[in-house]
Amino acid sequence: MKAEQKLCRAGIMHFFRNRLVVLGLVLLATVLLYLLLPAIRQGSMEPFLNVQRMGLTGGSPAALTTSRFPKPVNITIRTGQLAGDPPLFFRETISVDAAGKMMQPRLQVVLLHGQAFTSKTWEDLGTLTLLASHGYQALALDLPDSESMKTDQNRTNLLLRFLDSLGVQAPVLISPSMSGRFSLPLLMLHSSRLRGFVAVAPVGTKLYSEQQYHSIQTPTLIVFGALDGSLGTQSLKNLSQLPHHTVVRIDGAKHACYMDKPREFHQALLIFLSELNRETLSHHGRKKEILSEEKK
Ligand SMILES: *[C@@H]1O[C@H](CO)[C@@H](O)[C@H](O)[C@H]1NC(C)=O
Ligand SMILES: *[C@@H]1O[C@H](CO)[C@@H](O)[C@H](O)[C@H]1NC(C)=O
Ligand SMILES: *[C@@H]1O[C@H](CO)[C@@H](O)[C@H](O)[C@H]1NC(C)=O
Repeated sequence: MKAEQKLCRAGIMHFFRNRLVVLGLVLLATVLLYLLLPAIRQGSMEPFLNVQRMGLTGGSPAALTTSRFPKPVNITIRTGQLAGDPPLFFRETISVDAAGKMMQPRLQVVLLHGQAFTSKTWEDLGTLTLLASHGYQALALDLPDSESMKTDQNRTNLLLRFLDSLGVQAPVLISPSMSGRFSLPLLMLHSSRLRGFVAVAPVGTKLYSEQQYHSIQTPTLIVFGALDGSLGTQSLKNLSQLPHHTVVRIDGAKHACYMDKPREFHQALLIFLSELNRETLSHHGRKKEILSEEKK
């Protein structure tokens, strides 16, 4: 009886210690970011609270917790600008391990954004830090709203310039809404350049034929809000013709489903990336459908 109580107490202590370690790391990262990067001072503390919440709530799927990778002890978000026409502003995560060395990412993830948003959206939502904490490098680009970006070729070139300038070889590209104008031409013309594609109800899916979709081998996550009646439904119908796709519908979320339900969005994203990473490691084995829970 007494021994049992002791065991139980030890269990509880262990539980709280784990939680405390996570909390401590999150707080440390928050303080460091706040002190070290004047550029993000105007930003609210919210992004880190989000990550904290995610870190503290249990129930993450086995796929996320069983994968082994060294944890970064220091994650910073650096901003930069590439010269050129037009100049490109971006944010990227820098992860440092316990030995103080910059870490090699498992995969690089490039995040585009919708019409009303910027790369800051992903920082505020906690997505950049979250990705980095799982061993990925996140790079978020501000898309220019310029007159010179009229053609598919212009927009494709812009993304290629971004990837080439930063030495990003085979990223996973996340593309919500308006950014489909940039991402879909790249997918169609240079699909071998993309390790994965995450379509969040992008515009412009109607512009491509069944044959074009069938020819793309890039593993794709189609994620959309259940309340996104127009673009969500339409892009799903078109993108479902991609041979290697997985569908995640987020209940109770509208068009910007990542804003409405960040936890669900992040979880779907992490599962997709973790599967991609496993495939990459098992030397280009047969691509398999991921997430069996496909919904119609
Ligand atoms: C965290 O990283 C930043 C920037 O890379 C560096 O200036 C800082 O010294 C690091 N802090 C720790 C505790 O490693
Ligand atoms: C956009 O494409 C047009 C036609 O190909 C070209 O003349 C123009 O220089 C391009 N603009 C940029 C910014 O690449
Ligand atoms: C794309 O979706 C639209 C609207 O649902 C549909 O009219 C069109 O035929 C679809 N195109 C392809 C190639 O599936």
